[in-house]
Amino acid sequence: MLIGGGGREHAMGLSISKSKFCHQLYIAPGNPGTEVFAQNITLNIINPNEVLNFCLEHSIDIVVVGPEAPLMEGLADLLIQNQISVIGPQKAGALLEGSKVYAKAFMKKYGIPTASYQKFDKTQLKEAKEYLKTVKFPIVLKASGLAAGKGVVSCDNLHFATDILQQMLNGTLVGEAGENVVIEEFLNGWEVSMFVLTDGKNYILLPEAKDYKRIGEGNSGPNTGGMGSVSPVHLLNSELKNKIIQKVIEPTLQGLKTENIHYQGFIFFGFMIVQNEPYLLEYNVRMGDPETQSVFSRITSDVAEMFILASEQRLNEYQLEVSSKTAVTVVSVSEGYPGSYEKEKAIFLPKSLPKEVILYHAGTKLKENQLVTNGGRVINITALGDNLSNAIQKAYKANEHVIFSNKYFRKDIGQDLLVLENL
Ligand code: AMP
Ligand code: GLY
Repeated sequence: MLIGGGGREHAMGLSISKSKFCHQLYIAPGNPGTEVFAQNITLNIINPNEVLNFCLEHSIDIVVVGPEAPLMEGLADLLIQNQISVIGPQKAGALLEGSKVYAKAFMKKYGIPTASYQKFDKTQLKEAKEYLKTVKFPIVLKASGLAAGKGVVSCDNLHFATDILQQMLNGTLVGEAGENVVIEEFLNGWEVSMFVLTDGKNYILLPEAKDYKRIGEGNSGPNTGGMGSVSPVHLLNSELKNKIIQKVIEPTLQGLKTENIHYQGFIFFGFMIVQNEPYLLEYNVRMGDPETQSVFSRITSDVAEMFILASEQRLNEYQLEVSSKTAVTVVSVSEGYPGSYEKEKAIFLPKSLPKEVILYHAGTKLKENQLVTNGGRVINITALGDNLSNAIQKAYKANEHVIFSNKYFRKDIGQDLLVLENL
């Protein structure tokens, strides 16, 4: 059973459904795209008991959790107590994403390179304001709790930073998630994400990806869940990859063991690379969306087998196979996103797709037999190409045939890498 209903789960589900080990796949809630190869189930996925009851009634062998919120609610803890295998950490491990204050303290404790910072809670508004007067701008303000991408704000002057700080700590910006904040040094470099699947004993490194978080071209405007992704990132050479493994990934896994946190699931490491040195910006306790669409589209080995071996702590026996092609994902969103937007616009999709082009549903639903928009991020197109420029071309060509009113997408996914990689 797969938990979630976005483009990430469409991509993961499609890979799982192709496995010879998968006899029946349920997806809760899934989306109209996943209905084609799996059985969608309406469940309140942030209610662990509801998920558990379904699993018991349907003799589910293994549950793969897509998003972070059910993990923070203790879904993995409850499933494990009931002897159901789960890919996704228990609450203690999920704190790596659920609390930035915790994650930063963990990084510090285990010597993991990260931006320098100070933390403050809602009783410390005065101290935090005083501290802001002493820092060099720009800085980054982060709400500690889960805030759906809205909890991180870069500030280039004291006036703006003080205003945001106040709104975070008094709960008006992101509610309770802002009751603790991290004030962080601004790092200038390029970003890349690495993904690990661990069974608590062994780990495998999945292909890396680059995400395009801002709504506007040239990385302008507010942060979103992600407007596109590219995998692989050739700028990440083997020297840098080795540094990341030695300075960040292995110390993190060792740290979890030292803390007695049994972690079985994905860890997403978000990096800023500054002068060829990796700095860890964040942990997520899941795969990225839309990074998964690019990453999983390149995996050619059996993904369900990977999950089964992970659940048996035999991940060391898995042979990950990855296509050497480049994957590019373009996300089409509803105009207005990440702010407010209209829903229920009719969607028209291409009748057929060229080879190595995949269409993933994100925010869609069926209304009276018509596919309509049902979220900010609506449709993702992923294309595999022999090189980056070929993949970009294929993705954008197919995206022309995804039609709904008020459709918006970034036209520059992958362009920065194209320039940098050709230098
Ligand atoms: P996070 O959720 O912590 O990864 O932050 C979201 C985004 O904000 C990151 O992907 C970066 O683009 C940006 N960001 C976060 N922390 C920093 C930092 N210390 N310096 C510069 N940019 C940052
Ligand atoms: N695309 C960023 C994330 O999934 O957090």
